[in-house]
This record gives sequence, structure tokens and C-alpha cells, in this order.
Amino acid sequence: MSSPPIAIYGATGHTGRLVAAELRARGREVILAGRDGGALKALADELGGARVHQAALDDHAALRTLAEQASALVHCAGPFTETGRPVAQAAADAGCHYVDHGLEQHHTAWMFDAMPERAERAGIVMITAMSFYGGLGDLLAGAVAGGLTGVDRVTVAYAVTGWRLTTGARRTAELLFADTRRITYTDGAFQVGYVEPRNAVFPFPPPLGPRTMIAPIPSSDVVTIPRHVRARRVEAQLTAHTFEEEQAFTSEHVDAATRAGSDFTVAVQAITAEGGAAGQVSGHDLWRASAIASVEAAVRLADGRGPENAGVFSPAEAFPAEPYLRDLERLGLFTVNLPGRAER
Ligand SMILES: NC(=O)c1ccc[n+]([C@@H]2O[C@H](COP(=O)([O-])OP(=O)(O)OC[C@H]3O[C@@H](n4cnc5c(N)ncnc54)[C@H](OP(=O)(O)O)[C@@H]3O)[C@@H](O)[C@H]2O)c1
Repeated sequence: MSSPPIAIYGATGHTGRLVAAELRARGREVILAGRDGGALKALADELGGARVHQAALDDHAALRTLAEQASALVHCAGPFTETGRPVAQAAADAGCHYVDHGLEQHHTAWMFDAMPERAERAGIVMITAMSFYGGLGDLLAGAVAGGLTGVDRVTVAYAVTGWRLTTGARRTAELLFADTRRITYTDGAFQVGYVEPRNAVFPFPPPLGPRTMIAPIPSSDVVTIPRHVRARRVEAQLTAHTFEEEQAFTSEHVDAATRAGSDFTVAVQAITAEGGAAGQVSGHDLWRASAIASVEAAVRLADGRGPENAGVFSPAEAFPAEPYLRDLERLGLFTVNLPGRAER
């Protein structure tokens, strides 16, 4: 008997389409879900036929019926400050494993505050922020700093060239920049409040070299990394040139040529009194890396290869970080450089 399908909420969006295409390429049955029935049918036709399920965010019964039919649900519709809660709650009520692409700190914090008991009662695994911004930083911090003691600070530095926004990403960015309740992690504790962005310099290894950064950026890894790396301070930064590129924050469409022409490096530096450790991942097409990171997670959960216990997890809490990154590297998403560490 074939395994139950994997549901994709927000399937008609840019991320949802990449997730659907990858799941289909892996021979998985999918349920394409979202609020627009016509767009879902059109996508199903493009894919040569697929189940569709229309469910608005305020229709809990329809969201729950969707999740009841699936082994795992990948939530791709954003901004997650608007879409996150109803879909996560429906997955928990239906006993369906859950993975989301949220980048927003407050959604991730809410997942860890509000959902663990419900996930445990339902016996499901819920992984939040399994994507590029936030998710890759969390995994890399786990691979670099996992097991280190006496960590003073962890810096996650994103270098991105050719970033363009989709409609959903643009709305997410606008809401993020307008939100003054930034979550930071300093002196071993979370703080909430406005923090004036500053310029910093991050020492990427060659060929990038030292780059001017905007710091801090309000991404979800600041919320998740302190859960599994004991450090005094955790900060995420983004290259200043990313913000300055023409169209970086005005675009609402990302095509295949744009994706192919983009570059990224995510670097983590963990500083201890003895020196510390560092690592990087580099590749092209952060959108594909995002989508496939979540597909890999959903497939593992659907196949019973997730964490032993139920609950809410960050990417690096759900899966051993370095092997997970190495598996994504083998899928061609990026190269992983962890100096001084042989592959395990
Ligand atoms: N952390 C990361 O690195 C990362 C990477 C990729 C994506 N993301 C996040 O993922 C989200 C989607 O990005 P995208 O590029 O796929 O955007 P997109 O192409 O604009 O697609 C957005 C999807 O969300 C749906 N949606 C939006 N608001 C909705 C609502 N109120 N109710 C139901 N569906 C709704 C849209 O449905 P309609 O077509 O009906 O509007 C569409 O299917 C964004 O929040 C983005 O920040 C994060």
C-alpha cells in the first residue's frame, strides 16, 4: 500500500510549487492546498493531475480535514504572522506531522510557547523555520557549535547576492521591518524590544572575504539556536550589499533565471575563550535550498524517520545537524565546509 500523501498548504505560491514539484519528482502523492480553488486546480493540471483541497485560514474544519488525510503537512503560505497559527493548530488537531517555512521570530517563538503540549498529545513532530533564512543558520550552528562549551557568542552571517522577493516574501519583509518588537539573545537571555541596526564586519573566508553587514536581522535562528547551543549571545546578520541591490525589496516575482543567477553563503562563527569554531555552506538558488530542506524533513517524518519523541523542534533539534546538511549537500543544494571536522 502506498504511504498517505503529503499536504502542501500554500501550494500555489513560489515555495509551494517548488515543494510540490520536488515531492512529485520523488514519487510522492501530494495534496495541493490553499485558499484559491481555481489556482489549485490549474496547478494540479500543470503537474499532470494531483489531489486538491481548498481551505481558507478561518475554516478550521476544512484545514483539519486536509491534515487528517496527510502523513505530513508542509506549510508554505506566508506571512506566517498571519497564516502560521491556524494551519499549525489544524495539523495538531488532526495528528499530522508539520513543517513550516516561517522566518518570523514571533511565529517561531509562538510555536515553542503554544504548541508543544498539543504536539505531544497528538504524538506528532512539528518543525518550525525549516527554510533558508533561519533554518540553514540553525542547522549550521548545530553542526559548528554543537558540543562546544564556554561559547561566548554565535554569529550567523548570511551573504546573499541576487535576492528578489515574491509577493508573500515582500509582505513578510514589510511586516518584519515594521515590527519593533525584535527578539535578541544577549547575556544568556531573550530580550524583546527595538534594537537600532548597525553596520558590522563579518570575516567570511575567501573568496568573499570580510563584508559589511547589517546587524542584527530579526530571523528565527536567534530564537532557535539558544535551544540547542549554550552561548552568551546569538546574533544573525545579512550582507549590506543585499539590501542595496536594485529590486531587492521592490520585486514581487522570482523566475528560474533569477534563481540560477543568485549566490549565497551562510557562515557561523562560534567564539570561545580558546578560539572556537566556524563553518559555511555556499550555493546558488536559496529558494530551491529552502524548498528541498523542508521536503527532506517532511518525507522523513512521513516515513517515521524523525525524532523519537513528539513535540516542537527547530531543524537542528529534529535531525542531527551535520549529517542533515551533508544529505542536502549530496542533493546538490550547496557545499558544506566545516574546517577541522571529518564527515561523520
Ligand atoms: N525563511 C526563508 O528563507 C523562506 C524561504 C522561502 C519562503 N519563505 C516564506 O514563505 C512564505 C511564502 O513565500 P513565497 O515566496 O512562496 O510567496 P508567494 O509566491 O507569494 O506565495 C504565497 C502563498 O501563500 C498564500 N497565502 C498568502 N496569504 C494567505 C492567506 N491569508 N490565506 C491563505 N493563503 C495565503 C498564497 O495564496 P494566494 O495565491 O491565494 O494569495 C500563496 O499560495 C513567505 O512568508 C516567505 O517569507 C521563507
